[in-house]
Order: sequence, then C-alpha cells, then structure tokens
Amino acid sequence: MIHFKKQIANSILGAINELWPTAELTAAEIADMLEYPPDEAMGNLAFPCFKLSRVLRAAPPAIASAIAEKMDASDIAKISVAGGYLNIHLSDAYLAASVLSSIEDKRENYGSSDMGVGKNVVLDYSSPNTSKPFHIGHLGTTVIGHSLKLLHQFCGYNCIGINHLGDWGTQNGKQIVAFRKWGNKETVEEMGCDGLVELYVKFHEEAEKDPSLNDEARAEFKKLEEHDPDNIALWKWFLDISLREYNVTYKQLGITFDHYMGESFFSDKMEAQIQIMRDKDLLKLDDGASIVDLSEYNMPPCLILKRDGASLYPSRDIAAAVYRKNNFAFDKCIYVTSAGQSLHFAQWFKVMELMGYDWVNELVHVPYGTVSIGGAKLATRTGNVVLLKDLFRQSIEKVQEIMMEKNPDLPNRDEVAEAVGVGAIVFHYLYNSRIKDINFILENALSFEGNTGPYAQYTYARTCSIQEKAGNLDLSGSPVITAPEESALLVTLSKFPEKVLDAVDQYEPSIITRYVIDVCTAFNRFYQNCPILTAEDETVRASRVRLARAAGIVLRNALRLICIKTPEKI
Ligand code: ARG
Repeated sequence: MIHFKKQIANSILGAINELWPTAELTAAEIADMLEYPPDEAMGNLAFPCFKLSRVLRAAPPAIASAIAEKMDASDIAKISVAGGYLNIHLSDAYLAASVLSSIEDKRENYGSSDMGVGKNVVLDYSSPNTSKPFHIGHLGTTVIGHSLKLLHQFCGYNCIGINHLGDWGTQNGKQIVAFRKWGNKETVEEMGCDGLVELYVKFHEEAEKDPSLNDEARAEFKKLEEHDPDNIALWKWFLDISLREYNVTYKQLGITFDHYMGESFFSDKMEAQIQIMRDKDLLKLDDGASIVDLSEYNMPPCLILKRDGASLYPSRDIAAAVYRKNNFAFDKCIYVTSAGQSLHFAQWFKVMELMGYDWVNELVHVPYGTVSIGGAKLATRTGNVVLLKDLFRQSIEKVQEIMMEKNPDLPNRDEVAEAVGVGAIVFHYLYNSRIKDINFILENALSFEGNTGPYAQYTYARTCSIQEKAGNLDLSGSPVITAPEESALLVTLSKFPEKVLDAVDQYEPSIITRYVIDVCTAFNRFYQNCPILTAEDETVRASRVRLARAAGIVLRNALRLICIKTPEKI
C-alpha cells in the first residue's frame, strides 16, 4: 500500500498541477492527506478535498471531480467521487501485477524496509530478577522486547538485545541469608529455581516475624559489593541455576540475547557517574542516603546511594546507559518494563539530563500493563505466582491432548505441540495493546477458533498444504483475478509493509498480531468461497495457488515478528 500511496499521490499531483499551476503542493503532502476509508467498499484510499478548497478557491466536490477526470491512474486504480472525497480502489490489474509479484520476489523480506540501515538500537528486555521466580509478569517484557527487536531488524536497524538481569541488589543478600539459614546444596541443585524461590518466600515469611533479618540481608549484599569471596561464590552459583532455567523458557520462545549483562556488571562502573553528580552538585544527603532532588520537575527524589553506601537500581541504570552509549554507539536505547516502573525511568532520565548527557532523548521507555490470571493479581513475595514455565507446560499439554485426537500421526508432534502451546500464549498476550492490563484465560488462548495463535498457525499450515497438494503445477503465467475475495485478500496483503512501520513507530507488536488476524480472515474467506485446486480454469487455478502461497509468506513473516513459530503441518 505504501508503494500504491506514492503512485496515487503522484497522479493526484499531476492533475492538480495541470488544473491549478500555482498550487505548489508536493507529493509528500498529498500522500499525508490520503486516508483509509472506514469501509473498504468505499475504496481502499480516499483523498479528502476539503483542505484544498481554500487554496484552490473551489468547492471540494468540484475539486474532486476535476482531479478524477484529469488524473491518470487507470492501470493502478478505479476512481470515483463522493461529496468532497476522491475514492480510490486498487485495480485488480495492479493487485495481481504489483502486490502479488512483490510478495513473490521479496519472499521472507516482504514487508521489510531499509529505514534503519546504519543505525544501532539497543534493546533492554526480559531482565528478570535472579532468585525471584520467572513468572507471567515477565511475559510482557520478554515477548514485547524480543518482538521489538525483530521488528527493528526487519527495518534494517542493527540491534543489540541485552538481558539486564536483576542480579545485584538486596534480594541477593536475602537469598544468601536464607540459604545459609535454611537451605542446603543438594536440594537447591535438585530443585533449581524452585528451590531458590522457596528460600526467597521463606525469607519473607520469617522477616515478617523478625525484621532484623532485613538488616542481615542488607549487610550480606554490602559484603557482596565489597567482593567477599564466599558471598561471590554463592551468588555465582545462584545465578547459574537461574540462567539454566531461563534458557529453557527462552528456547521455547526462540529468543536469544546478544548479551547477558546484568546489574552486577555495572557494580564497578557507578562511581564515575556518582562523581559527576557530586561535581555538578546534584547529590543531597537525606537521612544519610544520597539523592537527587527532583521536586522542581514534580517527581519524588531519585535515590542514588543508600545510607550504608550501597548502590541502588537507578544508579546502576545510569552507569549501564553510559556504558551502552560508549560501547554500542546506539541511536536509540529501548527499555521494556511494566508500567509500574515508569516513574523510575522518568526519574533517572531526568538525572542524566541534569548530569549533562545530551543524548538522553535517545533513551526510550516502553511500558506495558499488568497481567492477572482468572482475575487474581500476582505477588512474588507470598509465592502466589504463576511461573512462565508452568503456564507453558500446561498449554503444551493441552495442545498435545487436542492433537492426539485430531492428528495422532503427525511425525514431529512434540515439536509442533510446543510451537502451538507456547505460540498460543504469546499470541493471546500480544493481541492486546501493550499498555492495557490483561486477564489471562488459558482456554481462550488455546481455542482453535477466534482470534488466537492456534487459529493463525492453522491458517498458515493450510496455505502450506495447498502448496504441497499443488505439486509442480505451472505457475508461470500472468495471474488473473476473478472474485472479490481474491482482491480483498491482496489488498490486505498489500498493507503489511505499512503495518511493520506503524508497529516500529509505536513500539506496538499488537499491530502485527491484529494484522495477522486480518490476513487469516481474508484468506479463509477466499478459501471458503473460491475453489483453489479444483478450479476448472487452469489460469484461475494457478493464480489461486499463488495467492495462497503469498498469504502464507505474509503470515509467516508476520508471525515470526511476534515470536511465533510456523509449523507447516499441525
Ligand atoms: N530487573 C528488573 C525487574 O525485574 C527489570 C530491569 C529493566 N531494565 C532496566 N535497565 N532497568 O523489575
């Protein structure tokens, strides 16, 4: 559609220049004015003439009719006038020749762009706190973050994905205290993360009764910051256990990181930044702690150092941002976290501005809403959480059951069940605009009907099966379009490149998820109304097979951008 928009803008400009030689409009201005009509029956694009009325000194309907008569777009569009609007329909000839062949030529690159070539983007996402459970609350940062990485890569950016593990903080002190008091090596080795979480929960239960445990935890973290060898050894072991488990989940999602560079990595890089704050006279003492006062900006103070001199989350983020700027020369650094951290980001972004970093506007916080399950909010401290791995396991098991019934002979059933089970959760989650709070209901995510991952993957598999059945049918002739469902499908497919740009622009993977459903709906309408392999006319048959193949290409490209695998058979 982008291409089409440009061509139409040029044709409209040609007509305007002929009719009103002094108008002085540009093609870009006209392209900006083009709208998508609310109902596609009216047209695929509309050009409103109201704004031109003053410049051109004519009534909008008269302008629309005059342009319609003059403009030459006969091979790409059908044009009609309604009131002050010029309604533009893509012609079947254009859809077949331009949209279809562009998908066939570009294949896995269809929808991509070179907008970001030569630019570096750092993406900070997933970043769980080690020693706390990796729960459903992390689904957002993990899949939104990775999808944003894939979307940026698709637009030509050089992307650096970083897992900024929360591996350095009082919680690590708590873990050490809990392990020494109540833990043992064998149990933790055997239970993995669950063992660590059990200790973490126990710590909080005990600390309710005996608050001095919190002081002990702070002291152990302080010792960690001072590189006490025993504490470091324990901490490393905990980290190892956590990473082993995260990696299982990341693998199921098909996610990899370019760097695991957690908060601990910055433990020796904060002092330089804190010195700059001192030099600029930004630090104030508040009850023994060092803070930056932000009252002038209507924000609570940003905490930099605790009373005991231990560093805090914002100080580590500041050190990390400077390190990343120096080492990755980013044009943009994106942080994906829950909206609960919006204030934290606003505060330390402001501190960096006050420190004199003039690239602070290259830091982008991308927040997302909360997740609840069956209406229940999730809490880490009480242990009342749904772990991501358990949710995935449950979902995969349910898919296995369905597949045993529907397709028991599928050769790689386990692999497919994992792709569908995990994909269902990701799709369901990414279907919502990210900032919305969502209530997760597994049954809804897993339904094969409705706007779900299984429905999308199943539709993709259907396009593959058509290809397979078509065998080596000759597809080389000129395609023909004979049914409205075919044009409608091609119009939908033509929108993909624009959807990708919108998703990148708004940091919003849900634009792609929803688009996938549009493609599935258009494809399934076509599939139900137009015989494909049984079409009598050979040219029609070949054109329809190509159309199904094109839909498959777009579905695969789009699903991959939202971290969803695309098995060819389900
Ligand atoms: N570890 C943090 C958490 O689980 C998220 C870190 C986000 N990234 C950052 N640079 N602050 O809440």
